[in-house]
Amino acid sequence: MTAALSRSEAWSLLALSSTCLGIFVNTFQGDGAPLIVSLAFSGLAYSVTYALIRWLGPTFIGAGLKGKDMSKAIKKEIPETMGAVAASIYLLILIAFIPFPFYKDIVAATSGGGNRDVVVQAAEVETGRFLHRFPHSKLSAYLSALLTLHTTTLLGITDDILDLRWRHKVLIPALASLPLLLVYYVDFGVTSIVIPRFLLPYIPNTSITNSESGLIHLGPLYYVYMAALSIFAPNSINILAGINGIEVGQSIVVAVLLMLNSSLYLIPFPGNPILGSSPPPREYPHPATDSHLFTLYLLLPFLGVSIALYTHNRYPARVFVGDTYCYFAGMVFAVVGILGHFSKTLLLLLIPQIINFLYSSPQLFKLIPCPRHRLPKYNARTNLLEPSVTEYPAERPPSNFQTMTLTALAKMHLLEIQIDPETNNIRSSTNFTILNLWLVWFGPMREDKLALGLLSMQTAFGLLGLFVRHRMALWIFSLDNRGFPGWGEGSAV
Ligand code: UD1
Ligand code: MG
Repeated sequence: MTAALSRSEAWSLLALSSTCLGIFVNTFQGDGAPLIVSLAFSGLAYSVTYALIRWLGPTFIGAGLKGKDMSKAIKKEIPETMGAVAASIYLLILIAFIPFPFYKDIVAATSGGGNRDVVVQAAEVETGRFLHRFPHSKLSAYLSALLTLHTTTLLGITDDILDLRWRHKVLIPALASLPLLLVYYVDFGVTSIVIPRFLLPYIPNTSITNSESGLIHLGPLYYVYMAALSIFAPNSINILAGINGIEVGQSIVVAVLLMLNSSLYLIPFPGNPILGSSPPPREYPHPATDSHLFTLYLLLPFLGVSIALYTHNRYPARVFVGDTYCYFAGMVFAVVGILGHFSKTLLLLLIPQIINFLYSSPQLFKLIPCPRHRLPKYNARTNLLEPSVTEYPAERPPSNFQTMTLTALAKMHLLEIQIDPETNNIRSSTNFTILNLWLVWFGPMREDKLALGLLSMQTAFGLLGLFVRHRMALWIFSLDNRGFPGWGEGSAV
């Protein structure tokens, strides 16, 4: 990879950066709309990440941060851990962005010297942060997100340098999620989730469940749930990996779908049924607007740095993203899901990752042998990818339990096995990832076609998920929080 930008790349990046700077400066003339600032910052983040990835490539290789592209005829070494560049720019942008959504509220609500003793009229505060401004208290949530993402990036880089073992890798997101969970504890403390409607008749009224409000109070268990989400999201992206563009590609799809979901909440809806003001005097912003704006502020720059990384990581890859990016991206999703109170919607958008995790679990939990790499196998003769396999040598054939599991899965077309005709033992089985399963179902294909197939499937699943979430939620829950009666802010829907 040449480290220099081509003339057209340099001019395009310069044009984009100048436009973004222009938009940014322009926001100072008005009220300084943070969403526009966030857009401008995201464009800048794209340009800077794009250029830095290119310029720093040789430095990364020199420092030993490199990997062999295993699915190419000539397996050359390219820079790895480039997710560290994307994550660093992202974190700097988030820090630079702090004054924009919070400034007014900080200035209005203090008399200087940090004293918050100026009484601001409620109406003034409301209009002050109407659609854009956050109350000062949200700053702690924002900072806890920053702290968690900083820790994640730091530990991700450690993993890329030291190539940690799997049992240690899993702990990385658990440690990194601590700032987020602790601030959630002191700041929100909401630990209830909505009970699906069909379960309501069977739920007795106890200290933790309330069938009238339709809520279940999980208490400390809710923290276990959030910690599990923070561990799951980063690791699930890291194990749906191994072909060019798939790690960043899947993260971009999730981010776009999450942004689509959050945008739905920014459209004002007529009247506020909770206030019972009918006919409503004017259109109200959705009560969850703040949470969803918060999500957009975190996801717009994420999209900027990720698209820049994707252009270098897509087939044929010029850089690898490293575990740093997988952890960072997964943690960004966990953070917005937790702080925005829509962890279930997030899980709906991670269905392909959940399926890949469940399908992988026999190998992850060592019921079936798990090789160091499970990425599809490159066939140099055809230039196509084929499912990779785990071999069972004749002297160590699979146990009865393993044979039964493998045969049953093969019968259901969820696996391909090869039988040794002499001993009748299983000689090899394809690895348990949906990348390999895709190749079992649709036959060998080129790396970019496999990535495109999976990303299209993920987009289709995601859109269907969002449709179900908003159109059919009333079948499952007693309410949909996008403007239907009965919405309650405190619940983690
Ligand atoms: C995870 C997977 C492993 C998979 C690997 C691929 C599990 C339990 N672990 O391990 O099966 O093989 O990711 O990323 O599911 N690489 C390519 N082409 C790519 C991306 C990566 O050849 O498009 C290779 C490169 O040699 C690169 C290496 O994979 O250096 C990165 O692997 P790493 O991220 O360290 O693997 P794990 O996350 O431990
Ligand atoms: Mg990895």
